[in-house]
Formats: sequence, structure tokens, C-alpha cells
Amino acid sequence: MRVLSVVGARPQFIKLGPFSRELRNYHQEIIIHTGQHYDANMSGLFFEQLGIPEPDINLQIGSGNHGKQTGRMLIALEEEFIRLKPDAVVVFGDTNSTLAGALASSKLHIPCVHIEAGLRSFNPIMPEEINRIVADHISDLLLAPTHTAMHNLKREDLDNKSTLTGDIMVDSVQYLVKKAEHNSVYPEKLGLRSGNYYLLTLHRPSNVDDPQLLQNLIRQLSELDYPVVFPVHPRTRKSLPDSVGEMHLIDPVGYLDILSLQRNARKIITDSGGIQKEAYILGTPCNTLRSETEWTETVEAGWNQLINPKSDELVTLIKTHNPVGKPPEVFGEKVAPKMVTALERIC
Ligand code: UD1
Ligand code: UDP
Repeated sequence: MRVLSVVGARPQFIKLGPFSRELRNYHQEIIIHTGQHYDANMSGLFFEQLGIPEPDINLQIGSGNHGKQTGRMLIALEEEFIRLKPDAVVVFGDTNSTLAGALASSKLHIPCVHIEAGLRSFNPIMPEEINRIVADHISDLLLAPTHTAMHNLKREDLDNKSTLTGDIMVDSVQYLVKKAEHNSVYPEKLGLRSGNYYLLTLHRPSNVDDPQLLQNLIRQLSELDYPVVFPVHPRTRKSLPDSVGEMHLIDPVGYLDILSLQRNARKIITDSGGIQKEAYILGTPCNTLRSETEWTETVEAGWNQLINPKSDELVTLIKTHNPVGKPPEVFGEKVAPKMVTALERIC
């Protein structure tokens, strides 16, 4: 089988790693990178660290407004799909690259597989919510990470094309978590020790595009009882205030470093989807600066606390969130082989 994997943004490279490795044991894979993310530390570094072959094609679409970015991807992907005649197209997650890949393949009647299907925030303001709903409705095979995702798909009458496989990021973490222990320079590089710092990541437009809201978040978080390590997403850098108090601001880091930073953090504060899951898998308490989450299991288990980003009580809420024991398993294991088996059934 000839399978085309379409990726473009940081979290998609992380999901592609274990899937691609498994797929290549049995089938031909062609990787198309849309170029949505392009800085070395948002893109190339992940291919290197996760052992993913260089993309066969990089469309170099780059940044832009939603319509322009998605439209340019759609035009370029359609041309490649016609030229390469794949047996299936695989798209990951909920970015504009996901939407463009799913649209281009469904119009050409090429079977489309959506990895990480069925997630819903029920917040239509999020660009990802639109992307994932459309991708689910037009794809031919939906690979769901959790029971909640399966339930969401059933409610939209999509269960007849859905399979529960577990979350591919379990395999991504598994692949590098041991190596991260020995190969990461963090947190020591910042003079910090395990358990003695908070890790912060922010990139949702609703949190970072309004400089005043971002400034309010940073002002409160810089008053926490331990130092804050903050790898800054390029989107967020544009709205950062001049002064960030005592925080350790660093550039976005590769996968080995972020795994080490997460595993050793006292607690994590984030608005990232991927980091909510990784925090849970690694057993680090997570505080999510959003009013809702797609990863409801992590909240129900008590390991992820949702905090309204407009709250003035961030420090108290974070300090008093102290889950005990170990998070129960909800994301499955050895996920990539289940995905490849499901894919073989439809082609
Ligand atoms: C995108 C996804 C989001 C995902 C996130 C992961 C969409 C609509 N959004 O958001 O779902 O959670 O990626 O990180 O697809 N930039 C750089 N260098 C880069 C990439 C981006 O400087 O390598 C800057 C550009 O100024 C760009 C901005 O970041 O305008 C936003 O990038 P974009 O890919 O449009 O959206 P993200 O916020 O990264
Ligand atoms: N990540 C990383 N380096 C960083 C910040 C995040 O490697 O400096 C990883 C993180 O561990 C997770 C993924 O990027 O696997 C999440 O991506 P992001 O937060 O950009 O997007 P989301 O998951 O919210 O779509």
C-alpha cells in the first residue's frame, strides 16, 4: 500500500513518529510537510529526535490567516495527491494542515484516515474545533484515542467508521522518555532541580493574542512559590510584555528536553492539548488555563485542573491542586500497531 502522511505543525510530528515507524514495516509511506511550522526548533528537530525520515515533500506554505494558509495548502496538496495516487491519506489532530489534507483527499475520493478523531471542546471559537469536526465528517476511518472521543463520534452518527485505538502519543512518550533522562540538559542547565520548578507553556490564541490577558497571566504566575520555566511558542513571543518577573524564558525546546522538563516539574501550567496528555502519562500534576478541555478523563481522574485564564486566583488554585497516587491508565498502550491494522482493513 502507498500511504501519504500529511503533517505541518509541531504536535503532528510527535504523533507521526511512532505511526510512521510502524507503518514502514509493512507499507510504503510518503511524508508531506505542509510547512505550517518551519523554525528548526518547531519542525526539523522533531524529525531528528523521533527518528522520522526527512519529509519527501515540503510545501513551504508558512504562516498566514486561516483562509489563505488553508487554501494554499489545499491547492498544493491536491496537486501532489493527483500526482502520487496514494491508496490512503493520513491526517493528524486538528490544525489547518489536518483540514487541508482531509479536504483534498475526500474531494479526490482517496480514503482518508483521521488520527486523534472524536475530540470535542464544544467551544466553537477555537479554530481547532472547526477543523476537527470537518475532518471527522469527511474522513473514511476515524481512529479515536479515548472512550470519550468514541462517545462524541457516536453522538454525531460517525461510529460506523470509528475505531478505538488509544492515543498515539503514549507511543511517542514511551519511545523517548528513557533517553530524555540521560540526554536532556534540562532542568540543570537553568540551575534547577527536580520538583523545584513549574513548567509553563502557552499558545492558544484566546490566551496569548490579547497582550493584556497574557500580561495578567504572567504577572500572577511569576508570583508562584517556585521558579517558572517558560519555553515560549513563536506565536506567544509576539505579545510578551517587556517584564516577565523572575521567569526563566527559553526558546521552544525539542522533544527530549520537553519530556525531561515535564517529568521533573513540580507541576505543569499549560493550554496545550499534547502537554495535558503527556503530564498525565508522566504523572505530573497539570493546571490547564482553559475553561474546557477535550481530555476530560485527565480532569475526572483529578490530575488536571481547569482554571479560567481570567481568574485572579491563579497562584492559590495552582498551589492547592495536589493529586495523590498514580493516574489511572486511560490512553491505552502500543497504539501504532492498532492504527496500522485498522488502516489495512479499509484499503
Ligand atoms: C497551530 C495550530 C494549533 C496547534 C499549534 C501547535 C492551527 C489553526 N493552529 O497554532 O492547533 O495547537 O499549531 O503549536 O492550525 N510561527 C513562527 N515560526 C514557526 C511557526 C509559527 O514564527 O515555525 C509564528 C508565526 O508568526 C505564525 C504564528 O507563529 O503567524 C502562528 O503559527 P500558526 O501555525 O498559524 O498557528 P499556531 O498558533 O502555531
Ligand atoms: N513541545 C515541545 N517543545 C516545547 C513545547 C512543547 O516539544 O517547547 C511538545 C509537547 O511536549 C507536546 C507538543 O509539543 O508533545 C504539543 O504541541 P503544542 O503545545 O504546540 O500543540 P497542541 O498539542 O496544543 O496542539
